[in-house]
Amino acid sequence: MSEFLRPLDELHLRHSSKWRRFSPDVLPMHVAEMDYEIAPQIKGLLIDFVQRSDLGYLGPIPEVAEAFVGFATRHWNWTPDPKQIRIATDVSVGAVEVMRRLTTPGERVLINSPVYSAFYGWIREVGCEVADVPLVPDLETWRLDIPGIEAAFASGVKFYLFCSPHNPMGRVHDRTELEAIADLALKYGVTVISDEIHAPLTYADQVFTPWLAVSDAARETGIVVTAASKSFNLAGLKASIIITQSATMASRLSVVPPDLHWRSSLLGGFAMAEAFSNCDDWLAQAVAANRAGRDLLTRLMSELLPEVPYWVAQGGYLAWLDVSSLGLGENPANRILEEKRISLVPGVDHGPEYGQYVRINFATSLESIERTVAAIASYR
Ligand SMILES: Cc1ncc(COP(=O)(O)O)c(C=O)c1O
Repeated sequence: MSEFLRPLDELHLRHSSKWRRFSPDVLPMHVAEMDYEIAPQIKGLLIDFVQRSDLGYLGPIPEVAEAFVGFATRHWNWTPDPKQIRIATDVSVGAVEVMRRLTTPGERVLINSPVYSAFYGWIREVGCEVADVPLVPDLETWRLDIPGIEAAFASGVKFYLFCSPHNPMGRVHDRTELEAIADLALKYGVTVISDEIHAPLTYADQVFTPWLAVSDAARETGIVVTAASKSFNLAGLKASIIITQSATMASRLSVVPPDLHWRSSLLGGFAMAEAFSNCDDWLAQAVAANRAGRDLLTRLMSELLPEVPYWVAQGGYLAWLDVSSLGLGENPANRILEEKRISLVPGVDHGPEYGQYVRINFATSLESIERTVAAIASYR
């Protein structure tokens, strides 16, 4: 067991949701946290802040915008405008507060199911309704349905909550798809929030395109919400960013309360700046570990569960399985939890029609991945 990947008995002592939600005999393979040691630079920074009792409110922090601009330039060849980067409490709060100001209660917000479960709650929270244009599966991945998206825009949908890369599919959308959607958004007057929290975890053989790097049409219509929390395993620290890159969108965002900055965490803000400026090596190690987990899962799925459809993630550390052929009843994840003591995310959390799917988190040890696939395969 490497230093980087923490042993299970130590992980069980963690206080986060992943380790507290179920009893200690359950192997948690659900919530999106990684079983890795955080970057030493970030650990050092946090220890330093605590040692100096430097735990007050978050004030000016130009370090975040500088760090993100550097990261985006190095990784995606995109140079955002540092003046259009705002801090928020986390990606959820950033998205909800933007939606609260830019939507009207009762209006429909477009999503593409199966999608991150919290999207449904965010839309409800601001009094809006879900308009779903599901992704369409093929053998390789699940793709955006561009004609379906255009039909939704044409029917009057004015707000699009977009997941890029896509959770739970691990789909890194193609630039051509993004260009087409941006043109449609401009044509139909639709505002797009692109949630790019998983982007730094894209595998090297894929090209992630940030929404605001797509085209003028994307910049005129879009807002990016993102953070270091998912890719650097810092969700408990609470800090994120909201980014625009046009005068139009910057002015529309002027109604979002500047207090969002004040409501973010000092430790979160400085950890995010450190993550985006000095932790590329750690990130490469995390992505390599995720990839090893993904490759093992892919092999085990074809050997032990060949009849269970599974799509290879192009980024991130989540896998989406169609377990309908196993006859596990109404809620397969519950059955696996009760009988095998392994927690997976029920497919239905990602959309009402996905009751026969489960989501697995593979940012963990190879042993835990083996145990999980073997447990599912025991139902064949
Ligand atoms: C697509 C997506 N957005 C947002 C979040 C949550 O972000 P935060 O903890 O910053 O609210 C997650 C967490 O898994 C996610 O997958």
